[in-house]
Amino acid sequence: MTDTHDPRAPVLSVRGVEKSYPLPGGGRLPVLQGVDLEVFPGEMAVLLGASGTGKSTLLHVIGSLDTPDAGSVWIDGRDLFSFAPAEMARFRSRTLGFVFQFHHLLPEFDALENVMMPGRLARRPESEVRRDALAALERVGLAARASHRPGELSGGEAQRVAVARALINRPRLVLADEPSGNLDRENADRLHALLVEVAQSGPAVLVATHNERLSALADSVLTLDAGRTSRRGTAGRIRGTLSAEGGPNADAMPELP
Ligand SMILES: Nc1ncnc2c1ncn2[C@@H]1O[C@H](COP(=O)(O)OP(=O)(O)O)[C@@H](O)[C@H]1O
Ligand SMILES: [Mg+2]
Repeated sequence: MTDTHDPRAPVLSVRGVEKSYPLPGGGRLPVLQGVDLEVFPGEMAVLLGASGTGKSTLLHVIGSLDTPDAGSVWIDGRDLFSFAPAEMARFRSRTLGFVFQFHHLLPEFDALENVMMPGRLARRPESEVRRDALAALERVGLAARASHRPGELSGGEAQRVAVARALINRPRLVLADEPSGNLDRENADRLHALLVEVAQSGPAVLVATHNERLSALADSVLTLDAGRTSRRGTAGRIRGTLSAEGGPNADAMPELP
């Protein structure tokens, strides 16, 4: 679809994604009802929406952790759901970085080993993974904590280690699901600044959040409501496009400067 070497090509294109869940009494709960969006290299896009609107569902589909009922997801010009399972796992580990609300660090490993984990799983050379993990810890301001286990880190520090872990395989797209949801204001703001810095260094970043201070920092804000999507601009540039079949349509919205 797109030339992966073209910096203007979207890293992420979501086309007509639909997802519903079975209801206990029969029938289905529609969650995503035709989501379209694009996110470009270097862009920080925020996905806003009240609890239960489908933000996590959408991130799981984009991250190939769940499959849509309809529609397609293209990452770096590749159709995600055209892969065989083994190829999908390899593509995911090399292309995507994940940050969740809870850090999910392994308690018996120190910060450095936790950051190295996805590099080891991707079977990259150990010395290269160690070097990149140290650089990633440096980048998140925690080089001095490399040998500390998660239990010896504050919540904010553990979450920054989780960001370092998400960056270890130099992903093209970082997906974050309410990454500051468990943090106090000071640590949340520090994490938000880090996500902005990550996007500015090249990858696309898509963050689901309720946090208005984070959405104020975003290049584009995508709002998910009743399974449909709309966008609004922030002070930053608008490069994402988002629309939904039958819902508020990006085309109908005024262009921002
Ligand atoms: N595995 C599932 N089975 C059934 N319903 C689900 C499942 N996952 C999520 N849901 C429902 O889908 C809706 C969207 O959930 P979610 O994507 O977690 O929303 P958000 O992340 O915006 O809070 C909610 O109503 C939720 O209860
Ligand atoms: Mg959620």
